[in-house]
Amino acid sequence: MKILVIGSGGREHAVIKSLSRSPKVTELHAAPGNGGIASLATCHAVNATDIDGVIALSKSLSVDLVFVTPDDPLVLGMVDALEIAGIRAFGPHKNAAILEGSKSFSKAFMARHNIPTADYKAFVGAEQADDAVAYIKAQNSYPAVIKYDGLALGKGVIIAENEGEAIDAIRSMLVDGKFSGGSSDSSVSKDKPSIVIEEYLDGVEVTVLAFTDGKVIVPMPASTDHKRAFDGDKGPNTGGMGVVTGVPYYTDAVATECMELIFLPTIKGMTSESRAFKGCLYFGLMLTKSGVKVIEYNCRFGDPEAQAVLPLLGNDCDLLEIVEAIIDERLGEISVKFADKKAACVVMASGGYPEKYQTGFTITGITECEQSGCEVFHAGTKLTGELVTSGGRVLAVTAVADELKSALDLAYAGIAKIKFENAHHRRDIGIKATLT
Ligand code: AMP
Ligand code: GLY
Repeated sequence: MKILVIGSGGREHAVIKSLSRSPKVTELHAAPGNGGIASLATCHAVNATDIDGVIALSKSLSVDLVFVTPDDPLVLGMVDALEIAGIRAFGPHKNAAILEGSKSFSKAFMARHNIPTADYKAFVGAEQADDAVAYIKAQNSYPAVIKYDGLALGKGVIIAENEGEAIDAIRSMLVDGKFSGGSSDSSVSKDKPSIVIEEYLDGVEVTVLAFTDGKVIVPMPASTDHKRAFDGDKGPNTGGMGVVTGVPYYTDAVATECMELIFLPTIKGMTSESRAFKGCLYFGLMLTKSGVKVIEYNCRFGDPEAQAVLPLLGNDCDLLEIVEAIIDERLGEISVKFADKKAACVVMASGGYPEKYQTGFTITGITECEQSGCEVFHAGTKLTGELVTSGGRVLAVTAVADELKSALDLAYAGIAKIKFENAHHRRDIGIKATLT
């Protein structure tokens, strides 16, 4: 099979590496890809959100399948458009990707199906800014969580520590138009910005990625991302600085609670609303004292969660087979197995990320890192004769071992072999999980 993978991050590199192990795959293509993906796939200069461009490319290459990985094209309806053009595609349809595309949709959906989540209230347009401010004053509970209702490159959530910060966040989102592009919920006006104000959840955060065909759901190993830029969970939020699996607080009892109260009700609820979710569904969960609650849904693999979890797919387990079973709605007929091991993934970023940073620095030591037993996934890298940095998150280094501590030691020893100017990585990934 000829497969085209959409996207350019470390997550896409992990997807392509897994697909490249399938005996059924004969040719891999990526749009747009990156410097690491280029060693496994032919990269094409087509943007991940360019739906017409992707359809034209798929036709010219006669691909058998398009794997749509990032949120934006999924929320825009790339899978629907590909199917209309007669091209097989993996990923949720637009009416299911709305679980990520619109916070007001997903919050109302959870309320309709009794899925545990933080209490909330939605506000639409500048004219409701005063109501939102009055609401936050009446709540008078901090931290308060203010979320932009739409895709905002991971920057749409403000945890306000006091009234001043909360009011600033409300005004910047509703009045000053801090983010462009409105809600993907068709019941909410696209011309008006909208926000959700929700209760702050205290607890331990866990991500569960799950394969689902709308009928059956197969959770992958639970993981924990580290969102802040610096050690000790300090500094600004990023796309994710490192992920570990084998998190001790995600016990069998918690997994059962999640399955019964969250995972199954979500896929059944979506299917019952004629929005069957077919793809990888990301559950962002908070383990609170009063039970597990959903922080957010994403309609795709996480980045860097995919770089930690996909390397655990069993050797006899073919990602392509899972993908095809999901598309054909026969996930229940195949066996999906993960290795009984732990993975640690540490991100190497450009110094300054997520704010200003420089690119174009030569990267060395990747081969030595891989020879030491790590897998290296490229994100912001580019081949210009030599391999150079080209983005904020540059590489993700993953190691797998029987115990999390050994996986972390291996990943950090691997990272020490890679060099580029101004490189930055967190030194405390997975510490909390190993101390618990
Ligand atoms: P998101 O962009 O929706 O992934 O949110 C970014 C981060 O904000 C999450 O990973 C959580 O750490 C935090 N967060 C979001 N919602 C809440 C909430 N209701 N309570 C506490 N933390 C939250
Ligand atoms: N690592 C968080 C995300 O992919 O949204």
